[in-house]
Amino acid sequence: MIFESYIELPALVAWVGRWHPLILHFPIVLLLIGIFLGLTGKKVPKKLLTLAVLTALITAISGFFLGRESETKGNLLFWHQWLGGGLALFAALWYGLEGLQLKKPIYSKILQIVLLVLILFTGHYGGMVTHGEDFLALPVNKKEEKIPENPLIYAHVVDRILENNCVSCHNANKQKGQLLMTSLDNLLKGGEVGNTIIPSDAENSELIRRLHLPLEDEEHMPPEGKKPLDEREIKILERWIALGASDTLRLNQLEDSEPLVALVKGLMEPDPMEKWKNLPKVADSTLQNLASDYLTINRIAINSDALSAAAFLPPEYDPQYILNLKRVAQNIVELDLSGLPLGPQEMGLVAQCTNLEWLELDRTPITDVEIDTLKNLSKLRLLKVYDTKIGDKGVGVLKELQSLKSLYLWKTNTSQNVLDDLKSTRTNLIVDDGIDDEVKEFFIKSDSLVEEQ
Ligand code: HEC
Repeated sequence: MIFESYIELPALVAWVGRWHPLILHFPIVLLLIGIFLGLTGKKVPKKLLTLAVLTALITAISGFFLGRESETKGNLLFWHQWLGGGLALFAALWYGLEGLQLKKPIYSKILQIVLLVLILFTGHYGGMVTHGEDFLALPVNKKEEKIPENPLIYAHVVDRILENNCVSCHNANKQKGQLLMTSLDNLLKGGEVGNTIIPSDAENSELIRRLHLPLEDEEHMPPEGKKPLDEREIKILERWIALGASDTLRLNQLEDSEPLVALVKGLMEPDPMEKWKNLPKVADSTLQNLASDYLTINRIAINSDALSAAAFLPPEYDPQYILNLKRVAQNIVELDLSGLPLGPQEMGLVAQCTNLEWLELDRTPITDVEIDTLKNLSKLRLLKVYDTKIGDKGVGVLKELQSLKSLYLWKTNTSQNVLDDLKSTRTNLIVDDGIDDEVKEFFIKSDSLVEEQ
């Protein structure tokens, strides 16, 4: 290892190196058995020790050959190699000591403990070389810091995408395809194939070509088993390269018509799925049990525990099929109970759906009494209560719902001055009180269309 840089290895030797990950298991097991016997005061069979030392040496040598194959050595590989070399050396020393038949077994014991420590650390560094430095780290979230206002396209957007998806295999310790993706200079330098990024020519850039390959293609990046980039991320990389792959470009230097602007702005908005990710888990079977001809329940998105539920009026109404939703009340973010003969029981359920953002109670017999049960729905953004019996007192309750952005309440018992007051105090709330008959017609029609289905 000391004279490593003077050594030139033939291809066959490199091939031997590839066996390292297989061979290494033998000395680990054999040495551990030997150490166990030694430390518990038993005699270590000579044959076992011979085999352990031999395989340790073979492992170290094949590891050395394998290490020669990687262009740049990161810290992890460096330590793994020296620890591994040391391990083989100490194993040989143990063999020698046993041969000497020393009177004091304490030397053997010390040696065995040193070997044990070396096995642990060599294995640990080896694991980090193959699986990445954070393989044994506790799970942490990926780089998800907020993108600043007017971000640098490379540092704040492009680099973040690469960091989260590519750098685990393209870093100093694990330079797959001899490509480093930790800085723009390294990216421009490219890897084995080269042309990783050709500024202003996204189409011919190897990096973009690989992102567009079919998922099952060997050369697709990231390789099979890793989460592929989504459309938006690919487009962002593509446009950034097309615009010259600069590291000084900022968002506000781009024309509004440049597609990158909308793409980056989209990335800066909070992910709507994020806010729902801590909802209680719901099994598909639960949803199937609850659903019926008169109750549809859907996940907002595949894998999301946020639910959208809509109930329809059965020929014989019994509120129980709605009350059953209690089991998933926390998960319901959209609820449509329009046109049902709602009473206090059903409204009790609604009050339990504290994550509700979208609620339709139009064309129901609810009054101000029932509206009062909505006052804890702090996340409610949209509420349809047109064609109901609610009056000015109910409006007073709704006025306090700070998240509410849209309110549909024509054909109610509310007075004009209370509505005017609501509109002037809650300027960010869009109140649709039926002034526009066309809109009204449209909503009634579309609602009844849904019901017919
Ligand atoms: C699981 C490990 C892994 C991840 C993650 C990964 N790659 Fe790779 N990458 C490889 C391996 C292995 C090679 C070499 C084999 C090959 O050329 O296909 C490679 C090669 C490449 C090359 C060719 C380099 C050259 O010049 O030969 C490019 C470009 C590339 N990767 C881009 C990416 C991008 C972009 C991402 C993130 C979206 C990514 N990789 C994520 C393992 C990975």
